[in-house]
This record gives sequence, C-alpha cells and structure tokens, in this order.
Amino acid sequence: MATPTKKSRAGAVRKSRLYWGVPVALVGVVLVVLLARWLVGTPAGESFLADYPGQSELPAGAPVGLPAWLGWQHFLNGFLLLLIIRSGWQVRTTARPSGHWTRNNKGFIRTKNSPATITLELWFHLFLDVLWILNGLVFAVLIFTTGQWMRIVPTSWDIFPNAVSAALQYASLDWPTENGWVNYNALQLLSYFLTVFIAAPLAFATGIRMSGVWPKKAPALNRAYPLELARAVHYPVMIYFVIFIVIHVFLVLATGALRNLNHMYAASDGEGLLGLWIFLASVAVMAGAWFLARPIFLRPIAALMGKVSR
Ligand code: HEM
Repeated sequence: MATPTKKSRAGAVRKSRLYWGVPVALVGVVLVVLLARWLVGTPAGESFLADYPGQSELPAGAPVGLPAWLGWQHFLNGFLLLLIIRSGWQVRTTARPSGHWTRNNKGFIRTKNSPATITLELWFHLFLDVLWILNGLVFAVLIFTTGQWMRIVPTSWDIFPNAVSAALQYASLDWPTENGWVNYNALQLLSYFLTVFIAAPLAFATGIRMSGVWPKKAPALNRAYPLELARAVHYPVMIYFVIFIVIHVFLVLATGALRNLNHMYAASDGEGLLGLWIFLASVAVMAGAWFLARPIFLRPIAALMGKVSR
C-alpha cells in the first residue's frame, strides 16, 4: 500500500473539514432562523420592531430617487472593480509575469532616479486604480453637491438599533420591505457607508504605500506606516469587496430584481424591463473586457505610457 504523502494527508483533512463543516453550518443557519423567529414573536420583540422598523428617517430635504449620473458612476465603478480584483489577484499569484513595464520619465510625476520596472500585471492594476480613483472623486463631488450623500451616510444614532431590527427581519426570513428608491434599510445603508467611506479609502491608502509613487526617503513616515502593514491590509480589503459584491448582487436580484435594476440602470421606479436590459448589456461589456484583458491587448496600451519588455 502506498504511504500517504503530505499532500494527500492535507487533502484528506480538507475533505473531512468540508464533510463536517457543511452540515454544521446548515444546522447553525436553521438555529439562527428559529431563534430570530421566536424573538420577533415575543412581546419585547414586537415592540422593538415597532419602535425600530429597520430604517432611520432621512434628514429633511433628502433627494428622492436615483439620477442617471449615479447609474453611470455605479456601472463604471463595478466595471473597474471587476478588473481591479482580477489584476490584483494576478499580481498576487503570477509566478511568471507576462511582461515588464518601465515608465517614460516624462509624465507629471518625474523622479530624479530612473523609474522602477514593474510587471505588466501590476501596471494594469495601477492603471485601473487611477481610473477608479478619478471615478470615486467625481462621485464624492456629485453626492455632496446634490444631497445624495444622505442616503449612504448615517445621520442619526438610531441607525444602530434599526440595523439590529433589519438583521432580525432578514434572519427571521421576513425581509425588510424594500423601498430603495426613497430610503435604504439601516443594514444596507451601513454596508454602503462602510464600502464607500472605509473600504475604498483603505484600498487606496494601502495600495499607494506599496506603489512606486510613495516616497522612499522619508524614514520617519515609513517607520510610522510600514510597508508590511499596507501589505497585510490590502489583500483582506479585496476579500471584503468580493464578499460585499456577492451579497449585494444576490440581494438586488432576490428583493424585487426588476424594480431594483430600474432604480440603478434606468433612473426610474417602474416595474418595466428597461433596467434589466441595460443591466444585461453592462454585464456583456464587463465579460468582453474580462476576455480582452490579456497580455496581447494590454502590451500596446502599456507601450503608450512606457517601455514594455518581455
Ligand atoms: C485604489 C488604489 C489601489 C492602489 C494604488 C493599489 C496598488 C497596489 C499595488 C502597488 C500592489 C502590488 C503590491 C506588491 O507589489 O506586492 C497591489 C496588489 C494587489 N491589489 Fe491593489 N491597489 C488599489 C486598489 C485595489 C482594490 C480596490 C483591490 C480589490 C478590491 C485591490 C486588490 C489587490 C490585490 C488582491 C493585490 C495582490 C496583493 C498581494 O499580493 O497580497 N487593489 N495593489
């Protein structure tokens, strides 16, 4: 009989974890649902839900509905994030880069030393990041000048008990009534806030620390904010984005897909098919970009901004 290798033993451990993990998780989910259903049925639960219906009131003068520019911003953000996650993953996992890129020292960021050479994968990641940051800045200016910020920034403390209420409603499988055209539920609002105002800036702050534009000759600054810290945080931020996107898309489709898609893609509160069609077209564009984002097409674009070598 063959002796088990380290690899096959690790595989067996993983299999047995899966074997036990899946039923344990399922039992856990059922218990949470039963507990939540029992809680919302008790007099205390009922009065809590009556006091905190799951969404906080918006400040007076908050805008109603989503304008078309927000739909465009949202599409561009999703489009860029998809490719940013893909290229970041490639930076992490590619052992043999498909090329190297050296910046022309002529751009608006010039260095006295000769610029560092980076892999084609990292060049693409950084190229997308610049576009993503620009899109984010336009978004910030527009939401703060139009009042749209009020829909994704908490403005009163009762957001927290309302988030507990919304979580209870989700867990009891009696989901909070969807009224996204006017006001998001508290959990939704908090998750959008976390994504826009914490996760995205964190991706930027840690990414820029690892990039070539960060000053090397700033010992005090670099001791206060070590490279290792940025490295350790950047990847978990990606995991956060992936989890957020999976849950976000699932809930959009599971809680009145046509209406939700009309909100974001057709700037309307109707029940028609227009939003769905625009959404499907946007998915086709993303799939096309995913297919085209390969070295043979990326090399000529990278060559416009620097020297590309194999
Ligand atoms: C917006 C500004 C961003 C900048 C400036 C940036 C910059 C960088 C840089 C310089 C690296 C290479 C690190 C190295 O050489 O080891 C990197 C890696 C990576 N980036 Fe970003 N990034 C940004 C945003 C994002 C976002 C939004 C995501 C995902 C949602 C992401 C996912 C990744 C991943 C997964 C890696 C590989 C990390 C690893 O090897 O552990 N990045 N990024």
